[in-house]
Amino acid sequence: MSTVDLTNKQIVLAISAGIAAYKAPFIVRGLRAAGAEVQVVLSANAHHFVTPTSLQAVAGNPVRQDPWDSAAEAAMGHIELARWADLVLVAPATANTMAKLAHGQADDLLTTLCLATPAPVLVAPAMNQQMYRHPATQNNLRLLETLGYELIGPDSGEQACGDEGPGRMSEPDALIAAVGRTLATPVPGNLKDHTVMITTGPTLEPIDPVRYISNHSSGLQGLSLAEAAAAAGARVIVVAGPKVQASSAPIERIDVTTALEMEQAVQSRLPEVDIFIGVAAVADYRPATSHEQKLKRSGEPGAEMTVSLVENPDIIAGVARHAQRPKLVIGFAAETNDTLAHARAKRERKGLDAIVLNDVSDPSIGFNSANNAATFIYDGGEVTFPKQSKRQLADSLISQIPDIFASQLADTNPETVTQ
Ligand code: C5P
Repeated sequence: MSTVDLTNKQIVLAISAGIAAYKAPFIVRGLRAAGAEVQVVLSANAHHFVTPTSLQAVAGNPVRQDPWDSAAEAAMGHIELARWADLVLVAPATANTMAKLAHGQADDLLTTLCLATPAPVLVAPAMNQQMYRHPATQNNLRLLETLGYELIGPDSGEQACGDEGPGRMSEPDALIAAVGRTLATPVPGNLKDHTVMITTGPTLEPIDPVRYISNHSSGLQGLSLAEAAAAAGARVIVVAGPKVQASSAPIERIDVTTALEMEQAVQSRLPEVDIFIGVAAVADYRPATSHEQKLKRSGEPGAEMTVSLVENPDIIAGVARHAQRPKLVIGFAAETNDTLAHARAKRERKGLDAIVLNDVSDPSIGFNSANNAATFIYDGGEVTFPKQSKRQLADSLISQIPDIFASQLADTNPETVTQ
C-alpha cells in the first residue's frame, strides 16, 4: 500500500524501448493507486517490450505513440498534453532517449513532449551496465542534471542480459516515491504569520584589498529554502554572503561579506524571527589583520609568509543561546566521514532543534551542484531525503517543519528573560 499521496496530480508516463518497460504497467497502477491520473506515451519502439493494450487497460486512458496520429491530436494535442502534465516520468529511459533529451532533440512524441513541458521531468535510466558506464552516457547524464532533469537510479545488480552492474531501472515503488517527493509542495499558508531568517552562501574574509579566504558555497540551497518558505506563506529574511544569485521570490535580502557582518545582521533582526535556518558556510577563521594595502612579494624565491588567523564567532550557536532565541533554530552540517555521528553531536553542541546533514564527500551533491541529499536530524527522529534538486529538497524540508515542530511553533513567544 502506497503512502504517497498524488490526489489530483496529472502524470505522463513516457516509456522508451528498454526491457524494463515490462514493469511499466506496475508503475501506472502504483501512480493511480496513489490518486494520480495517468496518460501514457510510448517511444517509437517501446511497443516491442510492452503492449499498448495492457497499458491502456491499467491507465484508463488511450496510449499515445505516434506524433502524426490525427485522432489523438484532435482529442489532446501534444502541446496540450505537455501542459496538462504536472510531472513527466520517463521510465525506462534508454541510453538513446537520454542522449536525445540531453541535446534537445525532438524526433518523436516522447522527446517532443519532454521539450514542450513546463513540468518537472524525472528520468529513470535503464540499460546494460556497459552502455551505462560509457563516457557518452555519463556525459549525457551530467548534461541532463544541469538542464534540470531529475535522475532516479539506476539500481545495480543482475541484468536481463546476464551482466551484473549499474543500469537496472529503479523499482516502481521507488519511482512513485520520487514522484511524490518532486510534487511535494509547501502548503500555502502553512508558515503564515511566521518570520523565517536564513543565512546562505559563503563568507569572504579579506587578507588585503585583493586577496581573501572563502569557500565553494553557492548559496543555492539556502536560497531554495527561502523560496520554499515564502511559498509556504512565511515572511522571509535572507542574509546572503557574496556572489549569491538573485531570487524572484518576495524575500527581504541583506547582503554581507564577512562572518562578523553576517553575525551583526543576524543579531540585529533576531527579535523578529520565529524560525532561524543557518545554511551559510561561514568561514571558521579570518585573518587576524586585514591589510589596508596590497601585500607585496618579498622577491626572495622560496620565502615563506604567514597569515595568522583568528576564529570567527559561531553565528548559529549564538542564535541558539540568545536571550531572544527564535522558536526554532535549524543548522546544516556538511560532513565527509562518520557523518551521522558528527552531525548528531553538532546538533547537541550548538543547541539546535534540528540539523540537516549533507555528505559532501559525494561530488554529485552539495557544493556547486544543483542537487543535494540530506538527513534531517531532530530530537526524536531522523528523515532521509535521497538525491534530488536543491529546490525539491527545500520544498520537502519546509513541508515537514509545521508537522514535526507543531508544538514549538504554536507557542506564543514566551516573555523574554533578560539577563
Ligand atoms: O561547525 P559547522 O561549520 O560544521 O556547522 C555548520 C552549521 O553552523 C551551519 O548551520 C552553519 O551555517 C553554522 N555556522 C555558523 N557560524 C559559524 C560556523 C558555522 O553559524 N562560524
